Amino acid sequence: MNDRTPPTRRRVLQGLAGATALSAIPRIARAADPVKVGLILPMTGPFASTGKQISAACRFYLAQKGDTVAGRKIELILKDDTGLAPETTKRIAQEMVVQDKVTFLAGFGLTPLALATAPVATEAKIPMIVMAAATQVIPTRSPYIVRSGFTLPQVTAPVAAWAAKNRIKRVFTMVTDYGPGLDAEKTFHAKFRESGGEIVESVRTPLRNPDYAPFLQRAKDAKPDALFVFVPSGEGLAVMKQFEERGLKQAGIRLIGTGDVVDDDLLESMGAPAAGVITSFHYSAAHESPENRAYVEGMMKANAGMRPNFHSVGGYDGMHLIAESLRRTNGTGTGEQLVAAMKGMKWVSPRGPMAIDPEARDVVQTVYLREVKLVNGKPWSIEFDKVENVGPAG
Ligand code: PHB
Repeated sequence: MNDRTPPTRRRVLQGLAGATALSAIPRIARAADPVKVGLILPMTGPFASTGKQISAACRFYLAQKGDTVAGRKIELILKDDTGLAPETTKRIAQEMVVQDKVTFLAGFGLTPLALATAPVATEAKIPMIVMAAATQVIPTRSPYIVRSGFTLPQVTAPVAAWAAKNRIKRVFTMVTDYGPGLDAEKTFHAKFRESGGEIVESVRTPLRNPDYAPFLQRAKDAKPDALFVFVPSGEGLAVMKQFEERGLKQAGIRLIGTGDVVDDDLLESMGAPAAGVITSFHYSAAHESPENRAYVEGMMKANAGMRPNFHSVGGYDGMHLIAESLRRTNGTGTGEQLVAAMKGMKWVSPRGPMAIDPEARDVVQTVYLREVKLVNGKPWSIEFDKVENVGPAG
């Protein structure tokens, strides 16, 4: 190919060359070889907390449960995709398949990164465990995708129903303008209106370099009973700061949302202003169960006091899918057999009971209603109600 090849054609040819390389790799597992898991995460940039939480949880899973399954050692290969460049994530995945000969691809901090990589999993016939990205449509993009985190429709519907039942009649919605935000907006609007509520205005904030101040001023001027927010993890602190500084709370406006906005990774830094925020979500570090107590204690001890967040359990449970599918295929399953072994799997996670819907290859789990409360001066999302067995569509 010379430099004068039109750019579109060049891209197609490069794509084909990549595809041929991927399908030509012999993938014969030998019992003595380690099983390689290619973990692609944002370890730097605005979404670095997602990478830090998930990589810590994957390591913790192996330390807690043992790193050898069916005679094969599980080896993590961690690469940083910086979180904002889908082509980078895809290229790293291709390199992991071709050079590292990984058996699993895993991670995926944001929706566009998971969507860009889906064709690599399909072509290479490798299970792709989506641990963080949460737009509902993701698993439809490859039969090799299985999700261990959550979906936005799943965690949005319960707070909409709660609001309508709790004297909140007029809501202003603010979501980040991409897949998960649009899922959250659509689900909240439908559920809240169906329950008799009114959406007074809805705004979408940019994913890159957002400035929440003008949007929150608009929300204040609209005088709603509550502001519903979805922002991806990492952004909650900026939203909370502006909510406080612009005096929305003093104006009598409640803050409600999915739990991303009071992410446990940032909640302590938010401090007292976060108290009273109501969210629905699948995980709180304050969840009361023996599994979660052991998880939070172990994670904090292994990671210099870091409070584990919802992305971390996406990583931890994703490692469970990997280890358990290997066990069920005696350590030598093909990609197809490993995915088949994950379908319908059920277990008790630190978040509570969960399962993989065999058709959707997606999470079925309990979604909790929580209120941020100060416990010994520190904010925690305290669960006060729950909806069991919520599927990926909410
Ligand atoms: C996503 O990009 O799918 C995503 C990222 C962070 C979240 C939720 C969804 O907290």
